[in-house]
Amino acid sequence: MTQSNGKKRILFVDDEPNVLSGLRRMLRGMRREWDMVFVENGAQALERLSKDPFDVIISDMKMPEMDGAELLTKVKEQYPEVVRIILSGHSDKEMILRSVRSAQQYLSKPCDAESLKSTIERACALRDILANESLKAVISGIETLPSLPELYQEIMEELQSGDPSIQNIGRIIEKDVGMTAKILQMVNSAFFGLPRHISSPQQAVALLGLETVKALVLSVQVFSQFDGKKIPRKFMDSLWKHSMATGSLVRVILKCEEVDKETADDAYMAALLHDIGKLILAESFPEKYQAIIKEVAAQKIPIRHKEQEVFGTTHAQVGAYLMGLWGLPDNMVEAIAFHHVPNECPVERFVPLIAVHVASALEHQGSSEIDYGEEISREHLCRLGLEERLEQWESLCAGQSQKGS
Ligand SMILES: [Fe+2]
Ligand SMILES: [Fe+2]
Repeated sequence: MTQSNGKKRILFVDDEPNVLSGLRRMLRGMRREWDMVFVENGAQALERLSKDPFDVIISDMKMPEMDGAELLTKVKEQYPEVVRIILSGHSDKEMILRSVRSAQQYLSKPCDAESLKSTIERACALRDILANESLKAVISGIETLPSLPELYQEIMEELQSGDPSIQNIGRIIEKDVGMTAKILQMVNSAFFGLPRHISSPQQAVALLGLETVKALVLSVQVFSQFDGKKIPRKFMDSLWKHSMATGSLVRVILKCEEVDKETADDAYMAALLHDIGKLILAESFPEKYQAIIKEVAAQKIPIRHKEQEVFGTTHAQVGAYLMGLWGLPDNMVEAIAFHHVPNECPVERFVPLIAVHVASALEHQGSSEIDYGEEISREHLCRLGLEERLEQWESLCAGQSQKGS
């Protein structure tokens, strides 16, 4: 979509001429990298989209006739490849979070050129990786992709009800006997280091917090969808163990960082599911994947190199694709997509991706049963100014691994 001259095409929509001229002024310096078009309402935006291809649409929320939510919903349906961003006044942030499922990113006004730029770059990088042709070919060769677990959706609905209660979440989980057993087994394991025995999902939610339990429910269900006969038990078990351990290291890392709840939530969920692409590939292409597993174990090389050779894509991209399809947050999809190559993602600060990358690499080094030779991208973290943080994370994670084993 990006033009042959490498310029990104960006469509700005706002009913206030002052806002548009402000944006125009602020972004003058970007003209070499972006082609920018400014329009005043949704109808004009749709008309422009029908004539020329765009990479990104950035829309105001509150507009007469067609508001931002409605516009972006239409764009999502008609032009799914266009990255959708809401740029909106502070006061309606709450309303946006509740009502718009159609935007991929939110920015609040006033917004400086730098954050606008980095948001656009990140969103495009993710879109490009998921639009990769070999990935699409592999995915379309898969007969059925797993669907977003229902129990997780029920929990999400309860959480969004405005007044979620621990009892209700506990009750939702209890309806599913298998899930209850699995959750209790997990929370009572050494990973969580809880002081006493937990005997009900309610207690688990009260002690671990809603976010953690929500993430656990999602990962348990996703993993159980793959519990077929095509994947060797040992591989499944090692992957589950690795995912849980990566999750607990991510929690250790997050404790040292000042992040909001949403970021922490995305990071933990991404950690539990970061290697899910391995299961998708192993189940969909059992023979090819078994051969890959064997070769990788013999040669002690990163599994993604072999995947790339055989499929032209990696488990990281395949997993991210599925999460994107389910509409999970971009922060999480990004963390999964780039967990081996954080340097390929244009971020300048601590985001879930960094935590997942470091935690997974540390965990693979500790117990390399399913992947080999994955290293922390030290140079990249230094460039981001996270060198000292990394030292702290490493020593805390080393403590945690000892406790867990
Ligand atoms: Fe991985
Ligand atoms: Fe991993």
